[in-house]
Amino acid sequence: MAAESPASPHAGARADVRAGRIDDAQALAELAALTFPLACPADMPAADQRAFIAAHLTAEHFAGHLSTAGHLVIVAEDAGRLDGYTLTLVGEPLDPELSAVVADPVSTAYLSKCYVHPRAQGSGLAGRLMAATLDAARAAGAVQIVLGVNGQNARAQAFYRRAGFAVAGERTFTVGRRVERDLVLSRTL
Ligand SMILES: CC(C)(COP(=O)(O)OP(=O)(O)OC[C@H]1O[C@@H](n2cnc3c(N)ncnc32)[C@H](O)[C@@H]1OP(=O)(O)O)[C@@H](O)C(=O)NCCC(=O)NCCS
Repeated sequence: MAAESPASPHAGARADVRAGRIDDAQALAELAALTFPLACPADMPAADQRAFIAAHLTAEHFAGHLSTAGHLVIVAEDAGRLDGYTLTLVGEPLDPELSAVVADPVSTAYLSKCYVHPRAQGSGLAGRLMAATLDAARAAGAVQIVLGVNGQNARAQAFYRRAGFAVAGERTFTVGRRVERDLVLSRTL
């Protein structure tokens, strides 16, 4: 297999950051299967990761999100390839552990997924993806946004901190048979 070129600021700048379309579903599933394991602790069994991917990250799941009002999918496309995506839920009931840390659950968005392909990490693309995601959540009426991040995922935590998020609490998050303890981060919109 040919080596991927390393991330460069050019890669981040030239990607088209846009709302997802129904015909992105298959590429989203492929990107999600590749990037979800990168958010998991190193000691998490691959079988648990595969179980989560099968249960939540197939093309059918993404097609469902792409056709559901309030499920905001933002993608970054570069030369016909998807380099990143976010999924934000607006107007859906929040998990109790998330509801507990927000002022008004009804007007709070949940950033469910935020993933950038390794070839585009460190390029600035994630920041553009986040900016478009926050704009979309605001446009959908949210005034606060929350997310969960694995306690061992230092890179993502640093990225979210720079994007204005702060620790608001904790939650449990199940991946296959593993029960993880996540940090809950929040920011106003
Ligand atoms: C999280 C993610 C979207 C961020 O995108 P990115 O392009 O890596 O983000 P950036 O490079 O702009 O920022 C990463 C920050 O982490 C820092 N960092 C890099 N490697 C790190 C590490 N091993 N430990 C701690 N911090 C690290 C960088 O210096 C940077 O911080 P800074 O801006 O204060 O210098 C991307 O890394 C990703 O998709 N990771 C895999 C999936 C994932 O974990 N998603 C989040 C699930 S909650």
